[in-house]
Amino acid sequence: MLPSASDLLAWYDRHRRRLPWREALRDPYRIWLSEVMLQQTTVAAVTPRWRRFLDRFPTVEGLAAAPWEAVAEEWAGLGYYARARNLHACAQAVTARGGFPDTVEGLRALPGIGAYTAAAVAAIAFDRPVVPLDGNVERVTSRVKAVEEPLPAARPRLAALAQGWMSQSAAQARPADFVQALFDLGATICTPRNPACALCPWQAGCEGRKAGIAASLPRKAPR
Ligand code: ADE
Repeated sequence: MLPSASDLLAWYDRHRRRLPWREALRDPYRIWLSEVMLQQTTVAAVTPRWRRFLDRFPTVEGLAAAPWEAVAEEWAGLGYYARARNLHACAQAVTARGGFPDTVEGLRALPGIGAYTAAAVAAIAFDRPVVPLDGNVERVTSRVKAVEEPLPAARPRLAALAQGWMSQSAAQARPADFVQALFDLGATICTPRNPACALCPWQAGCEGRKAGIAASLPRKAPR
C-alpha cells in the first residue's frame, strides 16, 4: 500500500507544531533564515534566536546592508561562522537581483545555498513540489519503505522515494505543508529511538514496521 499523502496531511492539520516561521506568511527571507539556523541547531534553540535576528534585520535588504561585524555579533553562539558569512553574501546577492528566486534552480545558484536549503525554501516559501532530504525525511522514508541499504549510499534512493510521494495529487496541492508534515512526523512520531508507531498516520503501510525493523533504520555505514 502506498503511504497516502492525504493521510499525512490530515494528521498534520491536527498535530503540526506551531513554529513561529510557519506564521511567516510564506516570506522567503524568514523561511530561508529559519532553514539555515535549523541546519545546525535545534528547534527550541533556534526559536528565540530567529526572532531576535529578525528584530535586528527585518528585511533581506537590511541584512545585506549591515556591516559584517553586526551580522557576526548577532550570529554569536549559533556556531559555524562560515554559515554567517554565507548568509550575508546570500542576502547581498538576493538584494542585488531584487528578491529571492522562486525556483530550486534559481535558489541553488545563490552563494551559500546548497541542495537542501534550495529545496526547503522552494517548497515552503513557494509551494514548489520538491522534497528536501534532511535527517527526518531520510528516517521516515527508510522506515516506510524498509530500505536497509546504509547511509550515505542510500541517499539518492531515499530522495527518489520521498519525491515520489510528492507526486500524489494531495501533496501536489499543498507542497509546503507536505514537506513540513514529513519534518514533523520525523521529529515527533518517527523519532530515532522508540518511534511512536501506534500514533503514526502511516502505520498501516509502513514496511519497516511490518518487518519489525523500523526502529533500526536508517542503517549507517561504519565509518
Ligand atoms: N527542520 C528543518 N526545517 C524545518 C521546518 N520548516 N519545520 C520543522 N522542522 C524543521
